[in-house]
Amino acid sequence: MESLTWVDGALEIIDQTQLPDHSLTLRLTSVADLREAIATLRLRGAPALGLAGAWGTALACREAGSPLDSRYPERVRGLALELARARPTAVNLAWGVEQVLASLSGLEPGRWTAEACVTAARLHEADRAAGRAMSAAGADLLHAGGRYLTHCNAGPLATSGVGTALGVLLEGHRRGLDFEVLVDETRPLLQGARLTTLELQQAGIRVRLITDSMAAFAMQRLGVDGVFIGADRIALNGDTANKIGSYGLALAAKAHGVPFRVVAPLSTIDGQCPDGRAIPIEERDAAELLGYGPLRWAPAGTAAWNPAFDVVPAELIQDIVTEQGLLSAPFPGAIRKALAEPAIRTRTVQGVQDEV
Ligand code: MRU
Repeated sequence: MESLTWVDGALEIIDQTQLPDHSLTLRLTSVADLREAIATLRLRGAPALGLAGAWGTALACREAGSPLDSRYPERVRGLALELARARPTAVNLAWGVEQVLASLSGLEPGRWTAEACVTAARLHEADRAAGRAMSAAGADLLHAGGRYLTHCNAGPLATSGVGTALGVLLEGHRRGLDFEVLVDETRPLLQGARLTTLELQQAGIRVRLITDSMAAFAMQRLGVDGVFIGADRIALNGDTANKIGSYGLALAAKAHGVPFRVVAPLSTIDGQCPDGRAIPIEERDAAELLGYGPLRWAPAGTAAWNPAFDVVPAELIQDIVTEQGLLSAPFPGAIRKALAEPAIRTRTVQGVQDEV
């Protein structure tokens, strides 16, 4: 399953809200369509959102009218920023927009659409390569007969390749290791139950589904050899935002001496964010807690707090697995060094993230 592909001038995505029962491909031809798909989680997962930002900026270049018009650059930027605002926590979305806008600077506007496509294709390929590298580095941490726990969905559907946290497990399986994976269902939108189980089952990995609230007891009663999660934004001190429930999982892992590892590409590190307090946390509609699909279990109108992400403090994280290998504590130095490598961040357009 390819979560997103660029086909004949449009972005084709698998509608993840229909999984696991229906595999429906949507063809998105406008920034508004893509924005809707992102806001409703038809397309989701930080690295996939980065590519959506990149390809969406190509759509913006095509949609912004005549490149001969003096307002064309401003229109492109306006549409691209509108897209970057579709979801606030995953820094990759703004990063993808930023990379493409940066590649256009200094170019004659008549060439922007073509150049945006070239840059987006390059980022797409780089994301696949990053997935392979992270998975290889993380799989070295697995052992035969182990039991691992994961949260939300950090697999192929959340990226353009093998995934991040799930990529590690898929790579371990490919190497012939036999292990079991416990999957948190991941309230309220059930990305673990609907998507992660599907990807692991399709790979032939032994999987058992648990509710989020069972994770601590699973560590105590069944034993867990490691937790692997993805990330939506990593601050410069290593604090990591990921799907709501990650923080509690990290506390439980600490209490039980279970290594807690984050697997993410360097594009998920926010070079402007000093620590977790500066990470914007998306709050979603209360309705997502009151029921699911046509079913409602809480009284209509019940007030609810629905943050979509939380922040795991760096001190609860054993390693951050990236395409450059493992970053370990103390994270500030390790992260700074990783970001200093060339080829990580191509170019930066100052202000895109600020404006988002
Ligand atoms: O709300 P979602 O489904 O976009 O949240 C996704 C996650 O929290 C993932 O774990 C994260 O993006 C890492 S994806 C490789």
